[in-house]
Amino acid sequence: MAIERTFTMLKPGVLSRRISGEIIARIERKGFDIVGSKLMRISRALAELHYAEHRDKAFFQELVDYITSGPVVAMVLEGDGAVLMLRRLCGSTKAEDAAPGTIRGDYAMHTGLNIIHASDSVASASREIALFFRPEEIIDWKDGNNDWI
Ligand SMILES: Nc1ncnc2c1ncn2[C@@H]1O[C@H](COP(=O)(O)OP(=O)(O)O)[C@@H](O)[C@H]1O
Ligand SMILES: [Mg+2]
Repeated sequence: MAIERTFTMLKPGVLSRRISGEIIARIERKGFDIVGSKLMRISRALAELHYAEHRDKAFFQELVDYITSGPVVAMVLEGDGAVLMLRRLCGSTKAEDAAPGTIRGDYAMHTGLNIIHASDSVASASREIALFFRPEEIIDWKDGNNDWI
């Protein structure tokens, strides 16, 4: 697979439940390189842009309310086939379909309160990374010891 970048956001429930370390550990353990990371309190305007595709859905207001209710951790992750690999690690959107062992499957009972966002395509990832990060906030690092991942 090709090296890709994807965007992830740990939603407000993560900091309020004090589980950011656990979730980031799972992302790192899988083998993603974290190339961008910051704590943000996002504005309604940014939340509405990020979720623009859902603007006409019944859950849109609830979604924007939730995502702006507290700080989030926004991250850019890099790795082989990173977009799909992260979607798989997160699990299905619907709470009842998210398999145990996935991040969503292990941490939420309700679809509207899942704890993590992951870009759904390479094009979405580029769009979302540009919304949340300035180019200089992304650090392209390699430690030379990644062969085992
Ligand atoms: N039926 C729903 N009811 C409440 N919230 C929903 C529903 N569908 C999606 N959401 C919320 O909106 C977010 C974006 O939805 P979507 O893009 O379809 O899923 P995903 O986050 O898996 O890409 C979901 O992560 C979830 O927080
Ligand atoms: Mg989505």
